[in-house]
Amino acid sequence: MSSQVGQQIRGAGKKPILSYHNVMKRFGNFTALNGVSLDIYSGEVVCFIGPSGSGKSTMLRGTNALDPFDEGQVFLDGSPLPTSENEARHLRRRMGMVFQNFELFPHRTALENVMIGPVTVLGTSKDQAAKAALKLLDKVGLADKTQNYPANLSGGQQQRVAIARALAMEPELLLFDEPTSALDPETIGEVLNVMKTLADEGRTMIVVTHEMNFAKRVADWVVVFERGQVVEQGPPEQIFDDPHTERTRNFLSHLGWHG
Ligand SMILES: Nc1ncnc2c1ncn2[C@@H]1O[C@H](COP(=O)(O)OP(=O)(O)OP(=O)(O)O)[C@@H](O)[C@H]1O
Ligand SMILES: [Mg+2]
Repeated sequence: MSSQVGQQIRGAGKKPILSYHNVMKRFGNFTALNGVSLDIYSGEVVCFIGPSGSGKSTMLRGTNALDPFDEGQVFLDGSPLPTSENEARHLRRRMGMVFQNFELFPHRTALENVMIGPVTVLGTSKDQAAKAALKLLDKVGLADKTQNYPANLSGGQQQRVAIARALAMEPELLLFDEPTSALDPETIGEVLNVMKTLADEGRTMIVVTHEMNFAKRVADWVVVFERGQVVEQGPPEQIFDDPHTERTRNFLSHLGWHG
């Protein structure tokens, strides 16, 4: 499929849930994002790939207002991203974020980690939050680990708790920043399988990943970053089987990707 065809099918008659227009981000003299324009549609899994330091995490951190962009515009469901800290807090509730290092509360059980957001932020009753948390832990395959503390869970299990915790807030959008790169190889698959299930449910997901096989299999759209710019974007069959730019080809061949 040519990218043009992909683009037409992709955007036809739909409004993007997220739309970036010429986004810039600087750290001192260093330009981390240099004019990124990009649309993301509801129900899509969009994978961000590219070399270390290319700006992928900076994109996610700007999107949920952890570290706002300097210039350009971002529209979420047609409205500009908020600028005040109060509005930003509200925004973060609409987006579930899953980090490389899980960031669970160490002194709380798996169940408590999943319940705490709804109880403290959304005002859900403890009973109701516990019920929902049990369901979510079951969904990520951890029905038998609800009383474990993070220290007594494998990395893959901790990451699945973190995914359940993100889901507990019923976010419109899930943002993953290299969710499997801190994991032992044998637990990567279980986390990717949970993410595949979420993708199949039609959730909107942005996934920064170095797992090219996952991106090829699960992504609807792949965006290649280099030095703070988008060097190519398209459906996975384009990016992985028929990349249109030399820079995408170089990046993939450095990874040892052979299609
Ligand atoms: N707080 C900061 N202060 C200064 N420079 C920063 C800061 N955060 C990021 N950078 C720089 O911005 C660039 C983009 O960083 P970013 O973390 O977005 O890269 P990345 O694509 O996620 O890389 P990786 O694959 O290694 O996670 C890097 O060169 C990084 O050193
Ligand atoms: Mg990163």
